[in-house]
Amino acid sequence: MTSISKQFAVIGHPIKHSLSPHIHLLFAEQFDLPMVYEKLEVELETLLSSLDKFKGQKYSGLNVTLPLKHDAYLLCQELSEKSQLCESVNTISIRDNQLHGDTTDGVGLIRDLINNGINLNQAKILLVGAGGAANGVMADLIECSPPTLHLTNRTIKKSMLMQSYWKSFAIKNSVSLKVSGIDGEDSFRYDVIINATSAGFSSNISPIEDIMINKETYCYDMTYSVETPFMKQAKNMNAIVSDGLGMLIEQAAESFYIWHKKKPKTKNIKSQLKKLKLI
Ligand SMILES: NC(=O)c1ccc[n+]([C@@H]2O[C@H](COP(=O)([O-])OP(=O)(O)OC[C@H]3O[C@@H](n4cnc5c(N)ncnc54)[C@H](OP(=O)(O)O)[C@@H]3O)[C@@H](O)[C@H]2O)c1
Repeated sequence: MTSISKQFAVIGHPIKHSLSPHIHLLFAEQFDLPMVYEKLEVELETLLSSLDKFKGQKYSGLNVTLPLKHDAYLLCQELSEKSQLCESVNTISIRDNQLHGDTTDGVGLIRDLINNGINLNQAKILLVGAGGAANGVMADLIECSPPTLHLTNRTIKKSMLMQSYWKSFAIKNSVSLKVSGIDGEDSFRYDVIINATSAGFSSNISPIEDIMINKETYCYDMTYSVETPFMKQAKNMNAIVSDGLGMLIEQAAESFYIWHKKKPKTKNIKSQLKKLKLI
């Protein structure tokens, strides 16, 4: 019996350099699953009409990337609990002509941190950034129940808004949510610093100060295609540094699971991408 190829795509702008098709096709190979996965340029202004078009076509699912995740959240007919909390959608399943939205960025981050041997349960964490990426991982970070989660951002008012938005969820999970430098005393010494800003693309200055890093600090940057000033800074301080490629792979694995109900192995994906000269 021949199974029919299901069709998927990642949408966003710009989309040319997306690794998602390669990652999903490597996952599909693990199960001999016939699958088509494209990358499609979709801008914010045309998202609504594009999604309507996708519904009427043969697509079974879509991944959504920058800058569309929040608007995709607004346009899906059904949402997972986490998508509702984070107001973000990166995974759409198309069933019965309806768009079901989910977000897997938070799971992706946490799984990558675990793969890297990081235990968030007792860690003093600083999350840098207050945009889509930072808010998109907040639910999963809070659910790890670190004693305190510190927030900071270039525009500090946005961290304060973030604090008030996430306050009740944090209290429910016994997490103290603080804005770094604003809420009382802060030693500025963190076990884990997660950079969720896009500063690496627009500036050659790290968004945090040297004083916040020492050689015991685990420094994680969600960016993966370039070495950011934050990564360089952390290396200079002899801290342990990871980029966000593992997060990208792990969030893709969770999307794959949502669509196919199969859990792909992720361990060798980086080396396979390297072999294919994609990274
Ligand atoms: N690895 C993964 O799977 C994954 C998943 C999602 C996102 N990401 C990455 O995460 C990054 C952020 O994405 P996003 O969706 O949150 O973008 P966004 O919504 O546009 O937010 C950008 C954030 O970066 C800050 N920022 C920008 N330029 C800065 C600078 N020069 N100095 C200090 N802060 C600066 C902004 O601060 P202001 O508020 O002050 O403007 C804001 O907090 C991107 O690089 C994206 O590729 C990676």
